[in-house]
Amino acid sequence: MIHQDIQLDENGRLRHFLTIEGLNRALLTEILDTAESFSGVTAQSVKKVPLLRGKTIVNLFFEASTRTRTTFELAAKRLSADVLNLSLSTSATSKGETLLDTLHNLEAMHCDMFIVRHSESGAAHFIAQHVSPHTSVINAGDGQHAHPTQALLDMFTIRRHKLDFTRLTVAIVGDILHSRVARSQIHAMTTLGVPEIRVIGPQTLIPVKPESLGVHVYHDLRDGLRGVDVVIMLRLQKERMLGAMLPSEHEYFRLYGLTEEKLAVTKPDAIVMHPGPINRGVEMDSAVADGQRSVILQQVTHGIAVRMAVMSMAMQRHPVGAAAGEK
Ligand code: CP
Repeated sequence: MIHQDIQLDENGRLRHFLTIEGLNRALLTEILDTAESFSGVTAQSVKKVPLLRGKTIVNLFFEASTRTRTTFELAAKRLSADVLNLSLSTSATSKGETLLDTLHNLEAMHCDMFIVRHSESGAAHFIAQHVSPHTSVINAGDGQHAHPTQALLDMFTIRRHKLDFTRLTVAIVGDILHSRVARSQIHAMTTLGVPEIRVIGPQTLIPVKPESLGVHVYHDLRDGLRGVDVVIMLRLQKERMLGAMLPSEHEYFRLYGLTEEKLAVTKPDAIVMHPGPINRGVEMDSAVADGQRSVILQQVTHGIAVRMAVMSMAMQRHPVGAAAGEK
């Protein structure tokens, strides 16, 4: 799916943020650097900058979310925007109004940005094709396709701990097949220069033709984890599985669940990540999830600064580095 025709403007700047695919290293680095400048705002006693004052941002979540929805809301508020959270169960879409009619009504209220999560791949792109020229659309996760802000907050977290992407070996473990997060992470890491990306999981949860993604495939967890710098665990996305793709959760944990003992084959300073929500005792032991090497809650915190960066850049409001200094 190619989005470059609409996600960048004629100067190559972000207008919408729909996918990592096709974005270059300079732009991804600019987003990470901008997020770095915003992380200072989050630490201030008054956690606000006026960059999006007078703008209205709508959270349009057609699928459940805890972390993404709330961190987008916090990010928008820290940029001084007004935020609407549309509850789709109580909105007129539940009375048969089409998605486009809902959108056009919100645009008639002069909303400036839509943050979209949807179970259908391509939903954010569809919406971006139909909004007026001054409106931006940010993809907060569409089906199995992409979750670009999650991938960037993960890159931000990796960069904080490991500094140089070009020296890393990273393993992504679990349900790669159904994971929009894994797809976006692989595109981000490839673009940022990670030389070795491994995917580890049972055959049934690895996409066909994984070589087209530029990754190395492992079916044995210990083999795949040996010597890695970063371990990214994924949730089993049962809501996206057609029929039984696993013998049982108990068996899955035995083979692919991360324990302290299996983690011992990684580099001694390897970090453990998970986009959440975690299923303890399925993807990983609580001792690992809550252990010294886990950076899972840091990922959540970093989501605010990264989403501030993406929203402000899509509104083309400031040059890189100016954000933290503004009051
Ligand atoms: N990582 C993530 O997308 O979590 P939520 O589903 O809670 O937003």
